Amino acid sequence: MTEKRVLLIVGGGVAAYKALELTRLLRRAGVAVRPILTRAGAQFVTPLSLAALAEDKVYDDLFSLTDQAAMGHIELSRSADLIVVVPATADLMAKAAQGLADDLASTTLLATDKPVLMAPAMNVRMWTHPATQRNLATLKADGVNFVGPDEGAMACGEFGPGRLAEPETIFQAILAALSGGLGAPLAGRRVLVTAGPTAEPIDPVRVLTNRSSGKQGYAIAAALARLGAEVTLVSGPTALAVPTGVRRVDVETAQEMLAAARAALPADAAICVAAVSDWRPDEVFGIKLKKGHGGPPTLSLVENPDILAALSATGPARPRLVVGFAAETNDVEANARAKLARKGCDWIVANDVSEDWIMGGDDNAVMIVGKRGVERWPRVSKAEVAARIAQRIAQDLGAKDPK
Ligand code: CTP
Repeated sequence: MTEKRVLLIVGGGVAAYKALELTRLLRRAGVAVRPILTRAGAQFVTPLSLAALAEDKVYDDLFSLTDQAAMGHIELSRSADLIVVVPATADLMAKAAQGLADDLASTTLLATDKPVLMAPAMNVRMWTHPATQRNLATLKADGVNFVGPDEGAMACGEFGPGRLAEPETIFQAILAALSGGLGAPLAGRRVLVTAGPTAEPIDPVRVLTNRSSGKQGYAIAAALARLGAEVTLVSGPTALAVPTGVRRVDVETAQEMLAAARAALPADAAICVAAVSDWRPDEVFGIKLKKGHGGPPTLSLVENPDILAALSATGPARPRLVVGFAAETNDVEANARAKLARKGCDWIVANDVSEDWIMGGDDNAVMIVGKRGVERWPRVSKAEVAARIAQRIAQDLGAKDPK
């Protein structure tokens, strides 16, 4: 997949700070962002913040000798797949509707033949003014696309339409606007996810199990499906609903989980999130054990198959990418490295469960331990960990030699 490129024009309005969050979302999704900051925009966000988040220089001057030599307004508009204006102020909309070209942003908008998406933000009276509504109609007739504005309380203390659409909504609109299935980098890929606990029967009514809720695995399955993957979720008993677009295979024991995982092959990637019971009772009693016959029974246990290790060693049927999880309380990196080698997988998502805010909490801070190195991710929500893992899987499957 070739990298998609957005030329982001940041106009002058209080909502300009949301362009920074949008830039972050785009970069995280692998979209290149080249920012143009208007003079008014620079009153609200600094060029430095924008450049740092965009990981590119900020263009702001139509008559810059250096920029015009390297990349003028024509090249700027040609270098993008989509031009996005956030916030599109009343002034920027008026200029674009009239075809004025008195600064870099308006000149670029006039010079481009690429699709344009505007996210307007302004005071409610400015938005409802007939002049702005006329400009809106003109721009729509010229083929400009719009996202928002939303209705709600505004920074100026008034209420009504004119508030910038949420960065996430603009982000989704950008993904939809970009051609070539950018929103679905895993389209056509088959991914297997194991999740939840296993339950090993002792007798017809009793099981040996653990407290795994399955939440992290289900969130990862959902995030992979959102990126277009065909996901088979082999799940132990949980109280969770099947995520949209995911095929779930219900199992109880580790042996059933292994058989279902094998049946889901071939797959491009396998992500083992399940908390598999390491042992199972050697003997399963056919009838319910009764108390009072010679005291409590003694359970004799045998080791369960290691699904992660088995999938990592399936010969020619091995998924290109096999990912495992590790919950550690100490020496996280060293333990994760040892586990990586022992299981033969490609990377391990490790977390330090001695941190009291991780277990049962909403946030997580994980470390990705691969054959070539370690990445430490910051503390983010568990949903964001899932989204990042899915993105990372898409990235690795897109590469020739996954980590
Ligand atoms: N795993 C598996 N099948 C098993 C055991 C574990 O697929 N029978 C997978 C888990 O889904 C997870 C990883 O292996 O991806 C965890 O490895 P494990 O050895 O169970 O690690 P810990 O639970 O951290 O155990 P230990 O402390 O014994 O290393």
